[in-house]
Amino acid sequence: MVLDLENVTLKRDDVQILQNINWQIEQGEHWVLYGLNGSGKTALLDIINAYNFPTSGKATVLGLTFGKVYLGEELRKRIGFVSASLQGKIYQTDNAFEVVLSGAFASIGLYQTPTDEMREKASGLLEELGCIGYANREYGTLSQGERQRVLIARALMADPSILILDEPTNGLDFIAREQLLDSIEKLANKANSPTIIYVTHHIEEILPVFSKTMLLKSGEVYASGQTNQIITSEILTNYFNIPVHVRWENDRPYLVKNK
Ligand SMILES: Nc1ncnc2c1ncn2[C@@H]1O[C@H](COP(=O)(O)OP(=O)(O)O)[C@@H](O)[C@H]1O
Ligand SMILES: [Mg+2]
Repeated sequence: MVLDLENVTLKRDDVQILQNINWQIEQGEHWVLYGLNGSGKTALLDIINAYNFPTSGKATVLGLTFGKVYLGEELRKRIGFVSASLQGKIYQTDNAFEVVLSGAFASIGLYQTPTDEMREKASGLLEELGCIGYANREYGTLSQGERQRVLIARALMADPSILILDEPTNGLDFIAREQLLDSIEKLANKANSPTIIYVTHHIEEILPVFSKTMLLKSGEVYASGQTNQIITSEILTNYFNIPVHVRWENDRPYLVKNK
């Protein structure tokens, strides 16, 4: 079991942010975590990352159960995380190669001397993510899509068991988005891929490789299970409280609002 959340709740200043979350992720599964703005996605990810501690319930991530000892640091070495907040922390003048290398040390910026092996691995990841053409460019000069690729390569430097992509297509145009999704699909289909948790509020980004989906609404699990049983016109009409229709094209769902 990669993740096991049992009745997890999170309260802050008397506000119930998450309620009775149950979520089990098995080895080899890739999941979409879907929810509207403010539904609690980031709060939930912060529990998985051990930045938030459940107010009640039980959280076990990669076999480590929170509560007895503080496990955050040990855990975070095994979880790759790509998010908007990480994006903002990277030094603009570091080149793409250095940004990827820094992932081996889990640092922002490069302070230790990387081994030849690390350099080779970073090159391989830049190649795999399609970034080799701008390996020597400063991070600050890269487009949004190029930055996301570099950050995914950086996250993979540490061979994480879980890779969390928190809204990775934000700010991308159609072409850049589809190209990034192609890379994510390739990665997810590899035999040694980490378990991917793909966080989004766009239905059309749910790739076939994400066979499981969790719908979060107002801090609660609204529905969770096989993607094709969750992403249906009926469930989403109730979820949004407006009539919608799901159309599948090439194994991907598209959402249409009914008149
Ligand atoms: N530290 C906090 N104290 C109080 N409320 C918070 C705190 N962190 C998040 N929230 C609230 O919890 C809800 C869920 O937030 P968040 O997890 O960021 O949603 P999402 O990532 O799905 O957009 C929001 O209503 C947000 O305002
Ligand atoms: Mg969020």
